[in-house]
Amino acid sequence: MMTAKEIRQAFLDFFAARGHDIVPSAPIVVKNDPTLMFNNAGMNQFKDYFLGNKTPKNPRIADTQKCMRVSGKHNDLEDVGVDTYHHTMFEMLGNWSISDYFKEEAIKWSWELLTDVYHLPKDRLYATVFEGDAKEGLPPAEVALREWRKLMPENHIIYGNKKDNFWEMGDSGPCGPCSEIHIDLRPDDERQAIPGEQLVNRDHPQVIEIWNNVFIQFNRKADGSLESLPAKHVDTGMGFERLVRAVQGKSSNYDTDVFMPIIERIAQITGVPYGKSEPTDIAIRVLADHIRAIVFTINDGQLPSNNGAGYVVRRILRRAVRYAFSTLQYKQPILFQLVPTVAAQFTDIFPEVQANQSFLQRVILEEENSFLRTLESGLRKVAQIEEQLKAQNSTHIDGNTAFELYDTYGFPADLTRLIAREKGLTIDETEFAVAMAAQKERARAAAKIETGDWHALNDQQSEFVGYDTLEAYTTVVKYREVAQKNKKQYQIVLAQTPFYGESGGQVGDTGTLQFGNQTIKVVDTKKKTTLSYW
Ligand code: ALA
Repeated sequence: MMTAKEIRQAFLDFFAARGHDIVPSAPIVVKNDPTLMFNNAGMNQFKDYFLGNKTPKNPRIADTQKCMRVSGKHNDLEDVGVDTYHHTMFEMLGNWSISDYFKEEAIKWSWELLTDVYHLPKDRLYATVFEGDAKEGLPPAEVALREWRKLMPENHIIYGNKKDNFWEMGDSGPCGPCSEIHIDLRPDDERQAIPGEQLVNRDHPQVIEIWNNVFIQFNRKADGSLESLPAKHVDTGMGFERLVRAVQGKSSNYDTDVFMPIIERIAQITGVPYGKSEPTDIAIRVLADHIRAIVFTINDGQLPSNNGAGYVVRRILRRAVRYAFSTLQYKQPILFQLVPTVAAQFTDIFPEVQANQSFLQRVILEEENSFLRTLESGLRKVAQIEEQLKAQNSTHIDGNTAFELYDTYGFPADLTRLIAREKGLTIDETEFAVAMAAQKERARAAAKIETGDWHALNDQQSEFVGYDTLEAYTTVVKYREVAQKNKKQYQIVLAQTPFYGESGGQVGDTGTLQFGNQTIKVVDTKKKTTLSYW
C-alpha cells in the first residue's frame, strides 16, 4: 500500500514528468488580498496569472497547497469531525495550465494518474460536467463531455448545475465551468443496491468528490457580472486527505496514515481509545483535524487574536479545547502536546513546522491555558442556564444570554451553538445577532471622534512665525472642542503661532500656552485629527 508521502510525491512526479514546474505552497495565511483570509484553493497564489496581470516563467505548474475552508464562501467548520471527510486545514494537490494545455489534456491526465498510478478502480469513478446556465449565458459542457465519454460509460457521467459545476474562488475573481471526479467507496453489496451515479454530490460520506478540474475562462467582477478573460486556463484541485483515503481503501480520511499518528497520540494522552464511542470519536477527530490548522496558521504568521484571521485561529483552537475538556474529560492543555507529532508528519514537505516546533508549542500552550481558565467558569454558567430553563420548562436560550456567554465568557458563537445542540437546546439567533450588532455599535461609538463647532473670536488669518521664533505673544482667533471616549481636548487657532502643525509625516510641535498665570499643554493630536495651524 502506498503511504501518504508516496502518494503526494507520485502526484508531483507525474506532473513534473509532463513539463510542470513544482512550486512551493503559498502560506496558508493570506496577507495581501482583502477578499480572502486564508488560502482556500491552490489557485489563489496564481490569481494574477489567470487575470493576465502577470506571466509565469513556465505556463505549467503543480504543487501541494496548504488550504483552509473555515470562513467566507467555502466554509466547512461545522462539519469537521462530525463527518469523516471535511477538514479545516487540508492539502490541495493541483496542476495548472496558464494559457497552455486545456480540457483535453487535463482530463486525460487526471484519469491516467488516478487509474494507472494510483490504481483506483475505474468502475468506482464518476465525472460531473456543467449543464450550462441560461441566466448567466453559459453553454453546457461539450468538450469535457466528449473527453469523459472516451474514458467511462455514459452512466458514470453526470450533469451538474452552477452550484456544483461552475467554480468560483469567492464573490469575485477568476472562475469557470468545472468537471469533478467522484469516487464511490461503498462496499459492493451497497453499490449493487443503489448505483453510485444516484449518490454523486448528495453528501454521502462514502461517495465523495476527490478532484476538481476547473476551466478558468471568466472573471467575476465586484458588481456580479462575468467578464471573459483574455486567455483560457486549467486549475485543478485534489483533496490530498481524500485521495489518500481512496488509495488506501479506507472508509474515513481519519483512518489513513495522514491522521492515525495524531489520533494515536491523542488516545495515548487522554486514555480514550479511538473507536470507543461516537461522541468520543468525534472529539478525537476534531482534535486531530484542528491541531493541523492551528499549527499551520500560526507557523505561517497568524497568531490567535480577537479579530479577523486571528479570531478564526482562536475559534478553532477553542473548539478543539472544548471537545477535549468536556467529551474526552481531559482538562489540561492538550494541543501543544500534539505539535511534535504533527511536525513529524511533514518533515519531507513542510520541514519549517519542525524547525519552529518550540515556538508553536509556547504560543499554543499559552492560548490553551487562557481559554481553560474561562471555559470552566463559562461551563458553570451554562449549567446554571440549563437549570433555569428546566425550571421554566423551556429549551430555548434567549439571545442575550447567548451573547453574555460570548462577551463575558469568551465562548465563540459556534461553541455555544455546539453545546446547545448537544444538550438539545436552541438559541435565539436573531436576538443574538441584535446583541452582537449593538456591541459593535458601542465599540464604534467609543472610537468615534466628536468635533464641536468652531467658536470664532475674530476673523483674522493665522500666521506661522515658527521659522524665526519659538515663542510669540498673540491672541486666540477661534477654538473648538474635540471629544473622544469621553476625553475632551481643545483645538485653538492663534493669530501668530510658532507651533508647526504636523503635515506630511512630521511630528507636530508641542509646548505650552500661557493665559495670565494659567498654563495649557499643547499636544500633538495629528494621529486623531488634522490641524493645519495653531
Ligand atoms: N480551484 C478549484 C477548487 O478549489 C480546483 O476546487
